[in-house]
Amino acid sequence: MYRVVKIQKVLDEAKGIKTFLFEDSSEPTPGQFYMVWLPGIDEFPMSISYIGALKGFTVKKIGYGTSKMHELSSGAKLWIRGPYGKGFNYVKGKALVVGGGSGMATLAPLIERLDAPDIVIGARTKADLLFVERFKDLAPYISTDDGSAGFHGYAPQLAEQLVNENKYDIIYACGPELMLKPLIELAKRRHIEIQASLERLMKCGIGICDSCSINGYRVCVDGPVFSTQVLFNMRDLGKVRRDASGNKEVLS
Ligand SMILES: Cc1cc2nc3c(=O)[nH]c(=O)nc-3n(C[C@H](O)[C@H](O)[C@H](O)COP(=O)(O)OP(=O)(O)OC[C@H]3O[C@@H](n4cnc5c(N)ncnc54)[C@H](O)[C@@H]3O)c2cc1C
Ligand code: FES
Repeated sequence: MYRVVKIQKVLDEAKGIKTFLFEDSSEPTPGQFYMVWLPGIDEFPMSISYIGALKGFTVKKIGYGTSKMHELSSGAKLWIRGPYGKGFNYVKGKALVVGGGSGMATLAPLIERLDAPDIVIGARTKADLLFVERFKDLAPYISTDDGSAGFHGYAPQLAEQLVNENKYDIIYACGPELMLKPLIELAKRRHIEIQASLERLMKCGIGICDSCSINGYRVCVDGPVFSTQVLFNMRDLGKVRRDASGNKEVLS
């Protein structure tokens, strides 16, 4: 069930974030993910961030597995399975896309298929901003927590300003749950549709182990992209998640 792909190119995208481009005949839709296995190291979920002649994973160095992946260069091999999960659905009308940190990796192929969306790219600092150059023709709105570039504050605050000034039919989002929570509340208050890609700890990626479950949904098969009504009713989102042993832990 795994196939081996060879890395064709590695791109430095932002602080601690690299893209690995490879050839693969699978046909993912934006928002879907793959399980990436580095034999002897670990296996972890990665969204598809480039869909074209070459496909790509854009990987933020977080811990052991992603650090080892960052050591790979052109010619190295990845063992992958997928694409898995449900991606984004296209909704007609004006879109606002909000990406926090490496969440922009998941949103990037969607942005390339939308008709002139407004984009908010948020990050902690200027050095952490992902894909500002890739989407420069769409003049993205920028927010940084420390004010080192663009709006000084959090991405949902900037999104709220845009919602006050424009009429949007849909908000697409990906980022930390603590960023998604206020965006979902904003969509609810302003009666705007929303789709958000969630990140939960995954082991099997195919609906067997339950490690990614949240309020009765398995993120790997029912998501990772969820839409309006489900998101409005997900009471654990931004509050509680499961650790590697399946125990619930409170998010701070
Ligand atoms: C659907 C989905 C898509 C993702 N897409 C991207 C992406 O495009 N770019 C990106 O940089 N990151 C993405 N992530 C997060 C990425 O999977 C984790 O950052 C990575 O697993 C961390 O592994 P590590 O060994 O470096 O971290 P460590 O903290 O050393 O180890 C974490 C352990 O938990 C496992 N694990 C499984 N799922 C997760 C998870 N969701 N978060 C953290 N650990 C997890 C890892 O395999 C590892 O065994 C995605 C996660 C999900 C669920
Ligand atoms: S990762 Fe196993 S059920 Fe979702």
